[in-house]
Amino acid sequence: MATPIVSTQRKPQDIIAEALSLSLKGRQFPGTIYTSAELYELEKERIFRKDWQIVGRTEHYPNAGDYKVHRIVGESVIVCRNEAGELNAFRNVCAHRGAEVANGEGNTKAFRCPYHAWVYGLDGGLKRVTNAEDIQGFEIANCRLAPVRLQTWGGFVFINLAKEGPGLLEKYGDILGKCDFLRTGEMRAARVSVLEPQCNWKLINENVFDLYHLNVVHANSFARDFNPRDFKLYPLSGGSFYGAYRSRSLCNAAGKSLFGSIPWLEGDESSAFAAQVLPTFSILVRHDAVYALMVEPLGVERCRLTIYTLFPQDWLDRKDFDANANQYNDFIRLIFAEDIDMLAALQTGISSEAYVPGPATELEAPVHYLTKDILQRLAEGSAA
Ligand code: FES
Ligand SMILES: [Fe+2]
Repeated sequence: MATPIVSTQRKPQDIIAEALSLSLKGRQFPGTIYTSAELYELEKERIFRKDWQIVGRTEHYPNAGDYKVHRIVGESVIVCRNEAGELNAFRNVCAHRGAEVANGEGNTKAFRCPYHAWVYGLDGGLKRVTNAEDIQGFEIANCRLAPVRLQTWGGFVFINLAKEGPGLLEKYGDILGKCDFLRTGEMRAARVSVLEPQCNWKLINENVFDLYHLNVVHANSFARDFNPRDFKLYPLSGGSFYGAYRSRSLCNAAGKSLFGSIPWLEGDESSAFAAQVLPTFSILVRHDAVYALMVEPLGVERCRLTIYTLFPQDWLDRKDFDANANQYNDFIRLIFAEDIDMLAALQTGISSEAYVPGPATELEAPVHYLTKDILQRLAEGSAA
């Protein structure tokens, strides 16, 4: 029998139909959903340019003029705190010839376009133009960097590139309501780790909720005595879900908390919680720390994973805070380093013409739940 060949030229809708049908039959998704350039273009159009995206934390913009440039599937956006203390977002595309007016992050009084020096205020409005006296009918007051919708929840910042559509809570209120008890608005992302896995962005969240791999890949770090069958999945609307289970502190391999419990969390020292919130945002909770994961695609087979490690704000004043927080940070990096090497190998394997999707176990149910939702959104043509 001839070896099946995975074509990269197939229509996205055919790839989606095959993937949904395989999943229905209890098989894995085909490799093409992680390797097809055409499907990635559809994801850009129907998810990343239409849906809410997490872009960070409010505490990373403490002062007026603090800004950061985000690139979401190539679209450049400035998030900035204005003089009134409000956090805003606007397109980083000059109203003259389209140059990016800002880069990276920092603090500024205004954004001066590097090409012809048009100057924009912290609200994105055009303030100053040189040598423009001869432009007929040009009104500075009517010119600005295009606004982008921005909303916050629990200290997290979200933007939406689509001008219209449901608000953050309208779309994701169910799952965010289930996460309110974490009171992440009273916490601080004291450590931030950025990793660049060589794999498709969907594999990151899938891997986080792949209960089947934990006792294998993480057997020597946190999952030595982890029972994956403890995980109870609670599906919600919009492809979101949460799960309750039992697991130790992720402070180090010993798993005995260095800080003690977060005061407002109920349960005992092994109570754990996890939530898939948006396609690119998930939360992992232990009794002594909250980890927020943000995934950004950088191409079909490359992405960026940012891990925010949150602790109650009061803890930051403790004398032992820095030394302890560093241990938590080192350990979560180690856990994800274990995943990332394996994910690069997975990406290579599923890209092979020899890959035939194998059977899925019950422990992979969350993986199928979240990726099926993404595929259904792509099939329906709308993220709304
Ligand atoms: S492109 Fe920005 S001022 Fe000309
Ligand atoms: Fe893992």
